[in-house]
Amino acid sequence: MKFNTKVIHGNQHPEPTTGSVNVPVFLTSTFAQKSPGNPIGEYEYSRAANPTRQALEDSLASIENGTKGLAFGSGLAAIDCVLKLLKPGDEIIAVDDLYGGSYRLFVRLFEKYNLKFTFINFDDVSKVEDKITDKTRLIWIETPTNPLMKLVDIKAVCDLVKGKNILVAVDNTFATPYLQKPLDLGADIVMHSATKYLGGHSDLVAGALVAKDEKLGEELHFIQFASGGILGPMDSYLVLRGIKTLALRVQRHSENGMKIAEYLENHPAVDKVFYPGLKSHPQNDLAQKQMSDFGGMVSFTFKSGKKEDAIKFLENLKVFTLAESLGGVESLANHPALMTHASIPAKKRAELGITDDLIRLSVGIEDAEDLLQDLENAFSK
Ligand SMILES: Cc1ncc(COP(=O)(O)O)c(C=O)c1O
Repeated sequence: MKFNTKVIHGNQHPEPTTGSVNVPVFLTSTFAQKSPGNPIGEYEYSRAANPTRQALEDSLASIENGTKGLAFGSGLAAIDCVLKLLKPGDEIIAVDDLYGGSYRLFVRLFEKYNLKFTFINFDDVSKVEDKITDKTRLIWIETPTNPLMKLVDIKAVCDLVKGKNILVAVDNTFATPYLQKPLDLGADIVMHSATKYLGGHSDLVAGALVAKDEKLGEELHFIQFASGGILGPMDSYLVLRGIKTLALRVQRHSENGMKIAEYLENHPAVDKVFYPGLKSHPQNDLAQKQMSDFGGMVSFTFKSGKKEDAIKFLENLKVFTLAESLGGVESLANHPALMTHASIPAKKRAELGITDDLIRLSVGIEDAEDLLQDLENAFSK
């Protein structure tokens, strides 16, 4: 199957007892048994497996070209599961410009358990090579990064660690499998905040993992079962429904994203625009190679460099909603330093380039003309 077919049919089947085309929402915690340890069907207890979550997990495996999908109560619960593959003393190399909540989970929780994180810019794969030690067990990639839209050459990193006992995990939240398939490029694990483009409607919080090989999938499933950070059946149904329109939505997000990036690049009040599809993006060649299009996430700064200009601009938007999160059908605007990335210390933010005049837009699927008009109004005010 090709991708547009997979999002609808990949690993999906009519429900066997009624023929229901959509998987029912199985609101049950437990399943009856004929005799002890001998359930009527294949399910026993919903933390281990639930048929609605199973349908979603099968779909996830299909769209990311993996063997095993797993659905969690949030994106961070999914990351938490990956880190529990490791043991005290293990080392992780991670991209420096990553989602603030991932950084918080790594540094404030897992460093306590003696995992050691090294954060670096992955713009040159030799920088990654320099940091690998005999204790390195995981490489954590986000590409494009949140919020500066830096790219990582997934294949180059995977080639670098081939044959070594090091896993490569890719947070594919921004790109989605419509634009980029990390497992095909050699990664071991793909992670999503399914809250974003997979769900697609800003109506739930969810996370996902997909493993390339079966053994790793089973290990992750054991941790999910043992730790319990599962997604409930209602939200599993909603994410599955979201995935059915993923291809259509991301196509439109990408069209609108490019129009808005080009508009911002030509605006006299704008200093830098961060969008991998622009020729001016320093990694545009890699974007062309690694991604099939460039998505709906665009960040920019002001020529004035003033925080007050960014705040006033955000207060004057009408079609874009000022809110955290991204990836829904509606356009959202965010001030990373005060909102999504406030958990990163100010000094570290300054080093990375997350300045106080930086705005991040999640461009939705509305008519581009209305979005452009909204931005123009806010600039003129
Ligand atoms: C790139 C990225 N990864 C992970 C997360 C965490 O996901 P969640 O909020 O679903 O826990 C987010 C949330 O914004 C994100 O943007």
